[in-house]
Amino acid sequence: MAATPKTVLNNSWAAATQTFTAVLNPFLTAQVDADVAQQPLHDAMAYTLASGGKRLRPVLAFVISQLGSAALSAQDFLFPAGAIELIQTYSLIHDDLPAMDNDDLRRGKPSNHIQFGEAQAILAGDGLLTLAFSWLARAPFNTAVRIAMVQVLADAAGPAGMVAGQSQDMADTGEDITDTALHQLVANKTAQLITGAAEIGALAGQLTVSQRAAVRDFAWALGQAFQIRDDILDVIETTAELGKTAGKDAAEHKNTYVSFYGLAGARQQLQAALMAARAAWTPAVLASLGFAAIPAVLADLIQQLEE
Ligand code: IPE
Ligand code: IPE
Ligand code: MG
Ligand code: MG
Ligand code: MG
Repeated sequence: MAATPKTVLNNSWAAATQTFTAVLNPFLTAQVDADVAQQPLHDAMAYTLASGGKRLRPVLAFVISQLGSAALSAQDFLFPAGAIELIQTYSLIHDDLPAMDNDDLRRGKPSNHIQFGEAQAILAGDGLLTLAFSWLARAPFNTAVRIAMVQVLADAAGPAGMVAGQSQDMADTGEDITDTALHQLVANKTAQLITGAAEIGALAGQLTVSQRAAVRDFAWALGQAFQIRDDILDVIETTAELGKTAGKDAAEHKNTYVSFYGLAGARQQLQAALMAARAAWTPAVLASLGFAAIPAVLADLIQQLEE
């Protein structure tokens, strides 16, 4: 049975972001205010959360949730989407610490540890990470769906996912590594959370097994593309454009797609990943969702990552 295409699916990525963040951003602020009384912990958590992230992962999750036939409002999806953004924000605070990438600027503002000191920045990350699972537990879905969401997010963000990638990234800094090791590092540090976010959307939207498999394949390829593009932008954009320190990867001797393949090679790898993201939407899966082609919002997202 074909689902009714929902408005958000037929518009641009910018429109979807606008629609959903208009509800998500006030929720993030209000819910952290309600849940965190301790200062300066509250202020440190709220600071990076409210400092202007693109919200790619929660918006992606929301868009995917809208593919399903179940009527699901933005309001219904705030706790899961918020949980995903809490994890993203925590990962950035810890990623910037002196012991990790040692970056003073994040989302166009002084990094959390510059503003609040290292101890509070570490604790703000700890607070965001644990609060994410409290929010999932409070989401307005049945118990089986909530447990599945907890499992997906913990696996994507944890020691078999993003944390493994970050550990590998740190261990390999300044070392010569193979292409296989680089691909695995990138898949873990970035594609895992993007895929987990999309899967949470698929769970909320009650997608079928084959639709969920396509969502996974799509998000996995999109995740590689996203990090390859991040590696490229680090080289070609200015600090002002990035909102984080330009040229940081080379300065820190990071293993990136650009350091490994060169700029032109990285661009080719980006194109290949975006092609794989498109190819994940097979005609059969699209037909089962009531679409003849990739929904406009997802086609536009893929287009946006062209660089
Ligand atoms: C930055 O992610 C970390 C990477 C995985 C490259 P984003 O570029 O999505 O950062 P924000 O959330 O918009 O600040
Ligand atoms: C970050 O990769 C991945 C995570 C934060 C999990 P980077 O270290 O390249 O991210 P930026 O460039 O600092 O945002
Ligand atoms: Mg890093
Ligand atoms: Mg970094
Ligand atoms: Mg980077």
